[in-house]
Amino acid sequence: MSINEQVEVEPTKFESLQCADDELYEFSRRAHLAKGQPIGKLMAQALKFPDLISLAAGFVDNATLPCEETRECLRSICDDPALLRRALQYDATAGNAGLRQTLAEWCHHAQPETAPDPDRIILTSGSNQFLHLLAEAILNPGDIVLVAAPTYFVFLGTLKGIDAQAIGVAADEDGIQIEALQEQLEQLSAAGQAGRVKAIYLVTDFDNPAGSTLSLERRHQLVELVAAWRKRYGPLLIISDNAYQLLRYSGQPLPSLSSLAADASDYVIESGTFSKSFSPGIRVGWGIVPQYLVERLLDMKSNVDFGSPHFSQVLMQQAITSGAVDHHLPRIRAAYHNKLQAMLSALHAEFGQQSDVHWREPAGGLYVWLTLPEHIDTSESGALWQSAIERGVLYVPGHYCYPDQGVGVAKNTIRLSFGVQNAERIQDGVARLASAIRHIESL
Ligand SMILES: Cc1ncc(COP(=O)(O)O)c(C=O)c1O
Repeated sequence: MSINEQVEVEPTKFESLQCADDELYEFSRRAHLAKGQPIGKLMAQALKFPDLISLAAGFVDNATLPCEETRECLRSICDDPALLRRALQYDATAGNAGLRQTLAEWCHHAQPETAPDPDRIILTSGSNQFLHLLAEAILNPGDIVLVAAPTYFVFLGTLKGIDAQAIGVAADEDGIQIEALQEQLEQLSAAGQAGRVKAIYLVTDFDNPAGSTLSLERRHQLVELVAAWRKRYGPLLIISDNAYQLLRYSGQPLPSLSSLAADASDYVIESGTFSKSFSPGIRVGWGIVPQYLVERLLDMKSNVDFGSPHFSQVLMQQAITSGAVDHHLPRIRAAYHNKLQAMLSALHAEFGQQSDVHWREPAGGLYVWLTLPEHIDTSESGALWQSAIERGVLYVPGHYCYPDQGVGVAKNTIRLSFGVQNAERIQDGVARLASAIRHIESL
């Protein structure tokens, strides 16, 4: 089947995925608020139409999934009858105590003095569940979260789903701009909204979607700014989403936000996950929270599932203590680094001569953020989307990554993921995208 033949059919099938008929059933207000989330559509399309080169869905690399390591860990668990029996049972709502202890030490082995009390760690089914739980616990409808924009669009969906307000703050390759953040906070204070501002959310390293990393200077400035705000107006939290922290391909790791001030662990929440660094199928994530949040978060988690799958947690405990994770990490870093290079060289080959096309070169993570000439609308209603689908390539339109308020939506942007495709298909995908752009520009 040719690329063109495929796409005649695909958009129709794609549409039908999102067509829940509200007239057939009176859904809750929260179901309405959750309507039309892009993540499900993008993942479904990538799975359903493997011939389409998806530079959209945030899947991880298939070829380097830790099959052998996982088999070994499973064998060790199954060979220990007492451990196997424990793994097959429910466990504490906060998750397996052994894994929480191990995590506290493993994540902070470079700075053992900053290791958190394992009682402040909550294990979840991926870090997304943690972020959701946290948002539900700290936000009432109308409350405000300031986000580095563009940002992780699934979290924007979470905020929308609970009727909270997300306000975008300008960010660049060094992460959230502190002056813009300060200005936004002052504006909110002047408008009598200080009490509504509950948190600042950012993906601190190699962020999704823009690949930027908060610089050391800005890390200090952010912590100082929030400490000063808290003295004036009361509680304000920093949510540091560290989903990609372990996927660094160049440069030196930067200190976590919670390690930058003696009392920072009172207001910095760190979330993490093994989805990107080991396996999303096992889906173990975590949050490290101030002590005063623990009990309420666990009460809320009790209402959801009273503990995430214990078997997965025992498996990850085995994977860390056996050294499987440490062994696996350099391998996937090397593989992703190659793919990143493939994407950057393809972008250079296709767009290097064009002064109105820009992209960031991340030091890690899974994404490259592409900015096209201002008049190009990358959304599904623009000409580029259709032209790209006709050429068999899928991307994430940048507008999904901006909240409704704050910094303006840059509709000429695209998130490209290099996580799942091999180098050849990445290059092919970028070439197809370039062809789609040339096509609409020639009309
Ligand atoms: C920035 C960011 N945070 C959190 C997550 C959640 O990942 P998981 O729930 O698999 O841990 C993702 C997944 O893509 C992400 O990109």
